[in-house]
Amino acid sequence: MSLDRSAVHNFAAGPSPLPTSVLEEAARGLLNYNGTGMGVCELSHRGKEFKAIIEGAEADLRSLLKLPDSHAVLFMQGGGTTQFASVVLNVLAARRLAHASTPTEQYEPPVLDYVVSGSWSAKAYAEAQRLALNGDGKPFCVPRLAASSKEAKYTSLPSAYDFSAGAALAFYCENETINGDEFAGVAGTDASFPFDKVPKDTVLVADYSSSFLSRPIPNIAQHGIIYAGAQKNLGPSGVTVVLVRRDLLVDTTAAMKLGGVPAVPIQSEYKTLADNGSLYNTPPVFPIYVSALVLRHLVAQGGLDKVAEVNKAKADALYASLDAAEATGAVTCVVRQKAARSWMNVPFNITNGREAEFLKGAEARGFRQLKGHRSVGGIRASIYNAVTLESVHKLCAYIDEFAAAA
Ligand SMILES: Cc1ncc(COP(=O)(O)O)c(C=O)c1O
Repeated sequence: MSLDRSAVHNFAAGPSPLPTSVLEEAARGLLNYNGTGMGVCELSHRGKEFKAIIEGAEADLRSLLKLPDSHAVLFMQGGGTTQFASVVLNVLAARRLAHASTPTEQYEPPVLDYVVSGSWSAKAYAEAQRLALNGDGKPFCVPRLAASSKEAKYTSLPSAYDFSAGAALAFYCENETINGDEFAGVAGTDASFPFDKVPKDTVLVADYSSSFLSRPIPNIAQHGIIYAGAQKNLGPSGVTVVLVRRDLLVDTTAAMKLGGVPAVPIQSEYKTLADNGSLYNTPPVFPIYVSALVLRHLVAQGGLDKVAEVNKAKADALYASLDAAEATGAVTCVVRQKAARSWMNVPFNITNGREAEFLKGAEARGFRQLKGHRSVGGIRASIYNAVTLESVHKLCAYIDEFAAAA
């Protein structure tokens, strides 16, 4: 069987394509890491080889993101979904410890503000509501909507924001992978995140799962927590990167002893992970190794400004073709607010009952995994970092041709 993959253009939403050169190196490392005669998955996670891998990954990540030393880098397990809970648990513990002298009966459960702009932030909000329940009347926290674009069926970002003074956290999802709306990477547009409206003492939390490393993170230092599952731009699924401001590395056992907070599994406590260099228990060795290779590859490409230039060119080309095709009536773009269109996930619908025809033609041209998320249907082209400009141009040419044949 040939290992050549050049005839295929993979537009998967995640797990998604990784750079071929990285996978070739990873394949060698899987068999014989660095001349040790042992594969990377056969080495102790406490040995010097793995220590170099994980430390190198953290150093490259810090330099790519220009992450200040005020923030720790954690490599965790459980995906973005586990982080929906972990952010709440750690922030509630930090808040409780900040009010250590208040007796439990007098302790007021804090408000948690959620910006809901699509399916994933809705899921994060639902998890906070679930964790709020304590079964004996007084909730652990009061999750509320600070903004929502549900009424617009998430075809845009929220148009108004109402953050509460004193909220323990304010959550947003930077890029909605299913709906295709994304906060703009720059200030001053109608799709820019309203950083100035978040109260200073509120912990700002961002889900960056599907846009991590696609461009620089605006106002990175203002965030208390940023997390991202690896399986889009970083590496294989199985590792989740969490950036945590160090004042949120708190002793959750001490908070639990005070009462008024939910129980925190040790694996979800950021402090435990930080104190142990992400090696409290056996880490996902292979996903971390491949992520380390991807990070080195991004550094070699010239960093995130360069990556962003290419990603912008890809998104501009694809949206230009889709707008032209929409003008002919062959397709409709899902996201209506232009400044909120995702650079990573581009959902659209094929009109006039021609979806099967579109997918058949796409398949014949080597385009793979273009079907939309099962919850919304339609088409979704995900154009993560490893999807080349050339692949996007080929898809654009096909869309142009398909629209002309309408
Ligand atoms: C924006 C976003 N958040 C969270 C998740 C959930 O991540 P996981 O599947 O790693 O739990 C996903 C998954 O695609 C996502 O795209």
